[in-house]
Amino acid sequence: MPKVFVTRKIPDAGIRMLEQKGYAVAVSAKDGVLTKDELGQELQGKQYDALLSLLTDKIDGAILDAAGAQLKIVANYAVGYDNFALADFKQRNIYATNTPDVLTNTVAEHAFGLILSIAQRIAEGDRFTRAGKYHGWQPMLLLGNDLYKKTLGILGLGRIGSRVAHHGSRGFDMPVIYYDVRRNEAFEKEYNATFMATPEELLARADFVSVHVPLLPTTHHLMNAERLGMMKKTAYLINTSRGPIIDEAALVEALRTKVIRGAALDVFEKEPDLAPGLAELENVVLTPHTASATEETRAAMSEVAARNIIEALEGRVPPNALS
Ligand code: GLV
Ligand code: GLV
Repeated sequence: MPKVFVTRKIPDAGIRMLEQKGYAVAVSAKDGVLTKDELGQELQGKQYDALLSLLTDKIDGAILDAAGAQLKIVANYAVGYDNFALADFKQRNIYATNTPDVLTNTVAEHAFGLILSIAQRIAEGDRFTRAGKYHGWQPMLLLGNDLYKKTLGILGLGRIGSRVAHHGSRGFDMPVIYYDVRRNEAFEKEYNATFMATPEELLARADFVSVHVPLLPTTHHLMNAERLGMMKKTAYLINTSRGPIIDEAALVEALRTKVIRGAALDVFEKEPDLAPGLAELENVVLTPHTASATEETRAAMSEVAARNIIEALEGRVPPNALS
């Protein structure tokens, strides 16, 4: 009977799929992230055939070796897979998979939630109202900015970036500009979007910069002090991708000194810690890495991870193979 280890409790849908196949599924009993040592110990000598991991689990050669030679697949319960040392998987002929597609729209909706929240000062207004500071309508109270006809800059035109562009263009009449390592002419035609040859060109023109590049050595601190300085003073920065793409200390400084108008972040450089000063700023909106956290999508992600495991254990190439 194939054995599967799940590193933390996730929605049941996928677990049920694995159990219906007759697999022995063990879910980590710890209500928290397993340290690397703990994960290694959980795997050692247990002969698991598959591992279902979270984005908070660092999976490298040492972990794969602790699991043993019978391990066929590690299915990440996330679309991002910067927590995987992919070369180590390839070397050992172990499948790595992620959960693309099912969360695209949800994350794009969250990105728009953040855009609306920061531009219309919704979170700030909520804090203000709850604090009992609202003493009657005022002509100048909490003035924000419109989205309508403002330029939406997409950094990284993958599935999620394209969907954010769709919402901005179709929903809010925002002209779309984008930067990506690849140009996409079909997308340009569909959304009347303009390709920027460099990130710098995009930063100089966008009113909202939404980050959708994956975390790679080449995108680490892509948004550093220098590039933050290239944004318009009136612009907003939104990040639903990975924290380390932004130099968070530089962002705090840029927000404090009004180099840019505001930022809305779902991800942080050293999660769950925040850069000193970030939480004290009024011109930021912060969510705890919950952009894909809807009941529907988290259940679907659980099913996609399970489907990848089943395919691999039945001897087929899993649909979302990365290695
Ligand atoms: C969440 O950040 C994911 O990569 O799915
Ligand atoms: C991830 O799903 C992406 O392509 O943006």
